[in-house]
Amino acid sequence: MRALVTGGAGFIGSHLVDQLTHDGFNVVVLDDFSTGKLSNLAHSPKTRIIEGDVADFNAVANAMQGVDVVFHQAAVASVPKTIEDPLGSHQVNYVGTLNVLEAARRAGAQRVVAASTAAVYGDLPELPKREDMTLKPLSPYAVDKLASELACQMYFNLHGLHTVCLRYFNVFGPRQDPSSPYSGVISIFLSRLSQGAAPTIFGDGQQTRDFVFVKDVVRANIKAATTDGVGGQVFNIGTNKRTSLLDLYQILSHQLAVNLQPTLAAPRMGDIKDSVADASKAAKLLDWRAQVSFDDGVRQLVAEVVKR
Ligand SMILES: NC(=O)c1ccc[n+]([C@@H]2O[C@H](COP(=O)([O-])OP(=O)(O)OC[C@H]3O[C@@H](n4cnc5c(N)ncnc54)[C@H](O)[C@@H]3O)[C@@H](O)[C@H]2O)c1
Repeated sequence: MRALVTGGAGFIGSHLVDQLTHDGFNVVVLDDFSTGKLSNLAHSPKTRIIEGDVADFNAVANAMQGVDVVFHQAAVASVPKTIEDPLGSHQVNYVGTLNVLEAARRAGAQRVVAASTAAVYGDLPELPKREDMTLKPLSPYAVDKLASELACQMYFNLHGLHTVCLRYFNVFGPRQDPSSPYSGVISIFLSRLSQGAAPTIFGDGQQTRDFVFVKDVVRANIKAATTDGVGGQVFNIGTNKRTSLLDLYQILSHQLAVNLQPTLAAPRMGDIKDSVADASKAAKLLDWRAQVSFDDGVRQLVAEVVKR
């Protein structure tokens, strides 16, 4: 089986490449290296790497040759960047998805699994988030991801292309880039604390997130690609558990054996107070549940950072 991973040099994509390679897939990566790194693919040296842009149909069609299954991860994954440049990011986040779907259809690929996001739920108060709830995308990022979900469903309905969209909640794990101002809060806290510096918490620290470990997200992708009867479906990928930023801060401080007071700052505009998945649909139809507890995931992440 040949798998194409768009965005395969990024945080989640590179973990997916490692697992697919381990499982015996012949893996092709299409990445423009805008945020991805070649070093993220060091564990999978046999990967065929194509440097190219998903917004360029010919580049996608070229990478799609002989591909059976596509994992579409490439995106401008930073909400602020999409607010700054809605036209440019639309080319990647929506047109890029359309290019992947059309190239997959023309090449006769069997399945496309696409990365979506919990951001499609916006700031509506009802928790936990279920797939059938009213959506409220609040940024160009969330709008393009929702449009991409609809395009995936349309390709399933029109052409029978087996598409599945996964709404990731807050993914964390090794290789998430803490130097980026947009990267996950865990990587930023960890990076600061391991340098002996107190991180800043925006707001009172009581805001909660559903943190899901990257290897669980990889398993969800593989389940989505290998389970029959789920074409055209959308799934929440989260743990069903809420962790507050203060809890996160304490767990990290404990594991790093540091005792620093966080700096509290005014809440950031547009920050959502609480987010948690109801991931029972994925449990029922994909037989997928998060397996790595938050503490264990943080332990693995800390061990990686200490090793470096
Ligand atoms: N990290 C999270 O918590 C999270 C949550 C929800 C959804 N997602 C989604 O998961 C996917 C992966 O995110 P990530 O956290 O690994 O981010 P990332 O930035 O590490 O990975 C994105 C990858 O896509 C590549 N890329 C960007 N634009 C491209 C283009 N035009 N053509 C080809 N490649 C391009 C980047 O170089 C990078 O390798 C994205 O679609 C993102 O929107 C992530």
